[in-house]
Amino acid sequence: TQRKKLIAGNWKMNGSLSANQALLSGLVGQSQGLVADVAVCVPFPYLAQAQEVLKDSAVAWGAQTLSEREPGACTGEVAASMLQEFGCRYVIVGHSERRTLFGESSVVVAQKAEHARVSGLCPIICVGETLAERESGATLNVLKSQLEPLRAGLLTSADFVLAYEPVWAIGTGKTASPEQAQEVHAYLRNWLVERAAAISLEAQQRIAGVRILYGGSMKPANAQSLLAQPDIDGGLIGGASLVLEEFLAICRAA
Ligand code: G3H
Repeated sequence: TQRKKLIAGNWKMNGSLSANQALLSGLVGQSQGLVADVAVCVPFPYLAQAQEVLKDSAVAWGAQTLSEREPGACTGEVAASMLQEFGCRYVIVGHSERRTLFGESSVVVAQKAEHARVSGLCPIICVGETLAERESGATLNVLKSQLEPLRAGLLTSADFVLAYEPVWAIGTGKTASPEQAQEVHAYLRNWLVERAAAISLEAQQRIAGVRILYGGSMKPANAQSLLAQPDIDGGLIGGASLVLEEFLAICRAA
C-alpha cells in the first residue's frame, strides 16, 4: 500500500498573532511542490487565523485536543463540531502531555478519537512509553494497552492517524534510532491489521492505508533516516514546527 507521508506540526502552547502570521504565510509561500501532506495543529484561539491564512493552500490545520462530550454544560471545553466550523481536518488526541498533565486515560483518549471521527475530523492518536517502561522491557505492552480501547467504528473507518511518540524523546533532543522506531511502528501496524481483520475483510483492507507518524525530537538532521523506514509514514513535530526553515526542511525530507 502506498501511503502518502504526513508532516504535522504540533505548536503546543506556543504562538502569538504576529509570530503565527509570519510562520503561516511563510508556509503558504514555500510549500508548493511538496510531495507530503502538511498540517499544523495550533492552539484553539488561533484556529481562525490558521483558517484565514491557509484556506487556499495545500496546508491543512487542526487542534491539539477536543472534548469527548456533547456540546453543553462543560465549562472550558471545546467540541468537535466547533473545530469543524473552523475547517479543521485534524485533531491530536492523547498526546503524552495530555495523558501526564491532565490525567487522560486511554479510555478517554479513545472516546475523544471516536468523537472526532463521527464529526468528520481525522484524529491523530498518540501513544508512547516512558523511559522507565522502555528500560524495563514493557514498551510493547504499554503501547498495546494504550491502543486496546480504540473502537471498532474508528478502526473500520481507517480515517485516523497513529503517532508513536516515545515520552523520553519528546522535547529532550533524544530521538529513537530509526531501527528502534521502525520496530515499534511495525508492531503498531501489525496490531492494527490483526484488530481490523477480526472486524471484517473490508476493515483489514482499509487499515493498510492508516499512517503511523513518529514524534520526538524529529529535526532536519534526523528526519530523512527516520522517514526512510518502511513503516514510518511521517512525523509529528513539536519544537521544530515553530521554526519555518526547520519545519520546511522536514517537509522536504518526506
Ligand atoms: O507532538 C510533538 C511531540 O511531542 C514532539 O515534540 O519535536 O519538540 O520533541 P518535539
